Formats: sequence, structure tokens, C-alpha cells
Amino acid sequence: MNLLLIGGGGREHALAWKISQSPFLEKFFAIPGSPGIKNFAECVENISIEDNAALVKFAADNAIDLVVIGPEAPLVNGLVDALNAVGIKAFGPTKVAAQMEGSKIFAKRLMKKYNIPTAEFEVFDNPDAAKNYIRSKGAPIVIKADGLAAGKGVIVAQNLDEALSAVDEMKTFGSAGNKIVVEEFMDGEEASVLALTDGEKIFPLIAAQDHKRVFDGDKGLNTGGMGAYAPAPIVDEKIAAQVEEKILKPTIAALKAEGIIYRGCLYAGLMIVDGTAKVVEFNCRFGDPETQVVLPLMESDLLELMDACAGGTLSDKKISWSNQSAVCVILASGGYPKSYKKNLPIDGITKAKSLGAMIFHAGTKIVRSEELGVRSYKNQNSTPNSYLLTPNCLVTSGGRVLGVTISAPTLREAVDKVYRCVEVIHFDDMHYRKDIAARALK
Ligand code: AMP
Ligand code: GLY
Repeated sequence: MNLLLIGGGGREHALAWKISQSPFLEKFFAIPGSPGIKNFAECVENISIEDNAALVKFAADNAIDLVVIGPEAPLVNGLVDALNAVGIKAFGPTKVAAQMEGSKIFAKRLMKKYNIPTAEFEVFDNPDAAKNYIRSKGAPIVIKADGLAAGKGVIVAQNLDEALSAVDEMKTFGSAGNKIVVEEFMDGEEASVLALTDGEKIFPLIAAQDHKRVFDGDKGLNTGGMGAYAPAPIVDEKIAAQVEEKILKPTIAALKAEGIIYRGCLYAGLMIVDGTAKVVEFNCRFGDPETQVVLPLMESDLLELMDACAGGTLSDKKISWSNQSAVCVILASGGYPKSYKKNLPIDGITKAKSLGAMIFHAGTKIVRSEELGVRSYKNQNSTPNSYLLTPNCLVTSGGRVLGVTISAPTLREAVDKVYRCVEVIHFDDMHYRKDIAARALK
């Protein structure tokens, strides 16, 4: 099978790593890919992942059998529809189905209509009406922009003042904030259940827990995710069964009843409140960094499963898991999720790998060493300026830079080992959480 992977973050690196193990894989391309994905696929950087016509042309010219789409933007932008229109199979939902993530209002209304457990909500396009509603409900309360806002469109307001100013802040999200959702605050523990589906059959993957806040103890701003582990013990057998029977299956059936066949990965962001799961949000793609802990535990052939999702033949397949635990710690640029420096040399990856870590590149690039010039770069863990000895140097290029993953027989072992690996990696201003999985270890 000739495969094209769209995306270049940590999630896509994990997907590429897992896909590359399939005996069905023949040619493998990635757009844009990354220095990590280069180890598995030919990376093509001069095509935008927003340019459907160019992506379709590339897939046709290269006899691609399956396109796997990592990030939400191309899905919401109708890339799957464009590929299917010329007979190319794709893993991921069509444009209407991707509204599950692309429009909070679409997802909330679907859940309400089909009795899928979620927070109570109201939709507003008038800020004053929203504020009146908020005053009538009181805080804590949650205010959300309707459309995609790069993970920043949600404000969990602890008091009334914060809630009222959150309504005004929604304007800063452009058209995504034209309509807003005001939602009941759910007090509980979060978990992520990703599921593979062909629109009929659904395979929930092992439950994971993300750590969204930037600092230890869930303090600071929301990020894309600072680390994850799986399995998440908060999703015990009873909750897993409830998620499957009361959330995932009814959601796929509800979409079907609305004339929408959802194929790809459906990600349910859950809040476990008093022993029951409610939906916080749906995403139309794999989670990042959840994928970096879920895939290392999957024993089945992911490529075969994804092809079956795209082709509508998932019911013929099986999925199996190792009984290990996996943990991923994100190494982020200092300052993230606000502004941060780029082009900082990264050191220690080889050493971390020799200690057993899987390293997933989230925001890195390769530059010629001479482009960096001479910096006063000191690293206690390796030769000072050792990067200057090589012609090419790996540098930071994003807020989330690397994901360091370990799987081990127990979560305790995985956590101890992952932090030993993290400690040998260095770039200036590197920041990471030291309490990934701490809740599960208690
Ligand atoms: P979302 O983008 O909808 O997942 O929201 C981002 C984060 O905000 C979630 O991961 C939760 O931590 C929090 N959040 C969203 N909605 C609620 C809610 N109704 N109650 C409590 N926390 C929420
Ligand atoms: N880890 C959160 C997300 O992928 O949206």
C-alpha cells in the first residue's frame, strides 16, 4: 500500500512510527513531515496542508492508496471529500463529519438531540444575551467559541467577572467566536478515549489521560497537552463500557441517523463525574500527545485498521493490546503557550534513545550549523557546543518540541524511566511538567 501522511507534529511522528511497522506498507510519503518522520517517510515540504488541490494532485501523481490525515484543520477543510471525489481513500472524517470538532454547536446539539451525556449548554450570538444568561447561572461556568481556535477558545471562569469578560474575549477569536456556547461547569477528572470507526463498527482504543495545563499541579494556561499516560485507571471497566455503550456507539449512530457516515478516529474528551463519563468535547482526529502513549501499547497493525476504517470493513478486524503502561512527557519551549524562542539547538536525543526512550518530534527542524553562528551554548549533559561539530543541527521550531515516551510493565517504572531520559535532553529554556501520571500513581 502506498501511503501519504498529512501533518508534522508529535502525533504524526507516532503514527508514522507505528504505520512503518506494517508489512502492507510500500511507498511512504509525508507532507510536510518532520525531522523525526524523515526516518520512515519521504517528506515533502513545499505543499501546504491547506491546499486541497495540490494534495490531491500529489496523491494521484504518486499512486497513493491511502491518505492518513493527522491534524483537524485539513479535515474541517474538506480534504477527505476532495480525495474521495477522485477515488482516493482517506483515513479521517469528511467535512460535514469533522464538524464534530469544527463546530462546538454542531456537536452539542447532536448530543442533546440523541441524549448523549454532556454538560448543559446554551448557544448565543448576542454577547449581552450571553451575559444575562451567565448572571442567571452564576460561576463557575464555561465559555466556548464555536469554531476552531487552536485550543484557546475555551475559558473556564471561576467567578462572574471572569465569565463576563470571557464573553468579550470571544471576539478575539475572529469568526470562530461569532457564536458562543455557555456551558455548565463539570467538576471531575478528565480522560481521553480515542476510537477507530468505519461509520458502523467502533473500536475504542486504550483510555489515556492528558495534562492540559502548562505547570505542575494543573496550574497555568491551557496548552495542546504537556504529557499523557495510558492506560488511565480512572477509566475502569465500568466506565469504559459506559463510554462505549452510552457515548461512542450512540454518537456514531446519531451521525448516521443525520445522514453522516463518520470514518476515522473519533476522540471523546471526557469528564468523569461521580463515576459516570460525560463528554467535554469531541475531536475529529487522534489526540496529541495521547497518540504517543496509545500507539506504543497497540499490538495490531494500525495501517490495516486504518485502511479498514476508510474502506468500511472494520467489522472483519480485531484489535489487541499489550498489558504494559506508557507515559509521554512533552518538552516545551520556555514561555509556551505564549511566545517563546525558536532555533535553539537540541542535545541529548541519542543518549535518551540509548536509555530506551522513544522520541517523538513535535516542533523541531534541521538547520545547517553555520546558520546558527556561534552561541554561548552550554550543556552539562554533553560536550559543550557539540552540535557545532556536525554539519546539520536539530533545533527547536515550535512550542511543543519533543515528546519522550517510555513503555514498561508498570506505570511506576515507566514514569521513573521517562524522567531519567528527559534529564539527558537539553535545549535552552526547556520546560516540562514533573508530575505526568502523578494522579494515577497515588
Ligand atoms: P475543550 O476544548 O472543549 O476540550 O476544552 C478545553 C478544556 O477546558 C477541557 O479539557 C477542560 O479541561 C475544560 N473544560 C471544557 N468544558 C468544560 C466543562 N463544561 N466543565 C469543566 N471543564 C471544562
Ligand atoms: N491532547 C488534546 C488534543 O489532542 O486535543
